[in-house]
Amino acid sequence: MQNLVEQPVGIIGGTGLTALEGLQITGERNMASAWGTPSSVLTSGLLGQQRVLFLARHGNPHRIPPHQINYRANIQALFDAGVRTLVGVNAVGGIHPDMGPAHIAIPDQLIDYTWGRKGTFFEGELDKVTHIDFTWPYSEPARAILIEQAQRLGLIFSSHGVYGATQGPRLETAAEIRCMERDGCDLAGMTGMPEAALAAELGMQYVSLCLVVNYAAGKSDTAITMADIQRALDDGMIAVKTLLQASVAGFGTLQARA
Ligand code: HPA
Repeated sequence: MQNLVEQPVGIIGGTGLTALEGLQITGERNMASAWGTPSSVLTSGLLGQQRVLFLARHGNPHRIPPHQINYRANIQALFDAGVRTLVGVNAVGGIHPDMGPAHIAIPDQLIDYTWGRKGTFFEGELDKVTHIDFTWPYSEPARAILIEQAQRLGLIFSSHGVYGATQGPRLETAAEIRCMERDGCDLAGMTGMPEAALAAELGMQYVSLCLVVNYAAGKSDTAITMADIQRALDDGMIAVKTLLQASVAGFGTLQARA
C-alpha cells in the first residue's frame, strides 16, 4: 500500500506549459538521474491539497527540441522523487476532423513513428530480458478521472483517440498525415514517445492530456503558422490547466500499475 497523502502527482508540461500557475510552489529540486540530467528542475508544490511535481519537458525557458529531450532522465527523476501517477501534457496537430485548434483530447492508443530515441530502461548489463505489456499505453484509471472531470467542467473534448508520435522537429508533409490517418491516427505530436513507454516500464500510471494547436498538415486550406499555434495555445491552455487542477486529487489516490 502506498502512502496516499504523501504520493506526489507528476505533471510534465509541454509547449505552452513551461510553468504551472495556480501551483503553490514549495521548492525546486535539481535532480540528476542514472540516465543524465532532466530537462528542467522539478518544481514541487500544492495544487489544491495535492502535492505535485512539475517538470518542463522542453526546459524552462523552452529550448530542447522533441528529438533531443532526455526522456529517460525525465521519467527516472520523477520516479526517484516518488511519482507513481504522471500526466504528460502534449500540444498536437489534429488529424481527425473533430479535433481542431483548442480541442482537448485524452488519447487511449498510440502509434510510434519516432526513431533513434533512447526508449527503454532495459539496456546494458541485464539479469533478464523484459518485455512490458503495452497493449493499453495509457492508464485507464487516470483517463477515467480526466474524462469524468472534463465532463463535470462541461469541456468540449474527445475521450478517445490515437496519438501518432512523429520525430520532428519539422511538421509532417500532407502525405505523411494522410498515411497516418490511414493507419488510424487522430492526432500527431512529437513528444508522446518514448515518454509513455518509459513510464510504463517503471510501472507508473501515465496519461496524456492533448491540446490541439493546429490542423495537421493538409487538413486545412491555410498554412500552419506559429502565430496560429500560439493563439490556439492561449485559447486552450486555460481549459487544460482547469482540468489538471480538478483531476490531481484523484490522481493522487491511484496505485502504481501492476
Ligand atoms: N504535428 C506534430 N506535432 C505537433 C503538431 C503537428 O501538426 N502540432 C503541434 N505539435
